[in-house]
Amino acid sequence: MGNLYGLIGYPVSHSLSAVMHNEEFKQLQLPHYYHLFNVAPKDLEEAIRALRLLGVSGFNITIPHKENIIPFLDEIDEEAKHIGAVNTVKNENGRLIGYNTDGKGFVLSLKQILPEQQFSGQSILIVGAGGGARGIFVSLQAENITQLDVANRTLSKAETLIEQCAKTVNSQALSLQEGERVLGNYDIVINTTSVGMRPNINETPIALNNLGQNKILCDIIYNPQKTRFLQEGQEKYNATILNGVGMLAGQGALAFEIWTGQKPNLERMIQTVQMHLGGQ
Ligand code: ATR
Repeated sequence: MGNLYGLIGYPVSHSLSAVMHNEEFKQLQLPHYYHLFNVAPKDLEEAIRALRLLGVSGFNITIPHKENIIPFLDEIDEEAKHIGAVNTVKNENGRLIGYNTDGKGFVLSLKQILPEQQFSGQSILIVGAGGGARGIFVSLQAENITQLDVANRTLSKAETLIEQCAKTVNSQALSLQEGERVLGNYDIVINTTSVGMRPNINETPIALNNLGQNKILCDIIYNPQKTRFLQEGQEKYNATILNGVGMLAGQGALAFEIWTGQKPNLERMIQTVQMHLGGQ
């Protein structure tokens, strides 16, 4: 008999996680199924109790539950604790264990486009200081990076993120204006804000005038697949670009592995998502 997995969020109807996981189960001939569970914030505790009772084998958590779920779990892995949010839960003989694969999933997808899949000596700027930025910061810190800075509209939030998360890496908090001024210092710039997401496709999180040529630009947005930030970087500055499909598939691939113990095909998961996004 197959296992049941799923996503809890509110709303979840637009999510691509079900097609991504179900296609991979099919490709790997696993008899499992991934279902979307729409759970309102007031029902979260009861929903977790129900998933436990029904013996659901694992699930993902998305907005707005990633932080609020923590008190209802039995154990939280170190990295998820550090980030303060959980996006993946595994049911191990009735014990619910929380993980966070968002940042690691991003790193996994970014590594695919780096020379020799190495970060050595890279200097990176993260734009934004919310939950997404925090996961990416913690996971990037684990790589061999020279400088990992954070630029945010509200400077104090970037300062807090660094205070709480920076352990081994050199890191500085910047205002967006300061970030724009020194943009040329970075090899990789990552947008973790929602600026540029459909329908506001003409907005851009940071001006690229000082970027310089041949850098790497990443966005965690996948709708549209090419935000104005990525498009301008590619057209004007010959940047190599990575959109949010990589992170979506990367976090999914890591969750898949936690649940099943099997490594899925990341490239195929990316293709499944791209196919469902169509020409957006
Ligand atoms: P998430 O958990 O998805 O990262 P979040 O915690 O709400 O979402 O964080 C959103 C991030 O996008 C924040 O860094 C936010 O900047 P502030 O800290 O100043 O609020 C940033 N952001 C959102 N809208 C923005 C905008 N219009 N311009 C610049 N930054 C914006």
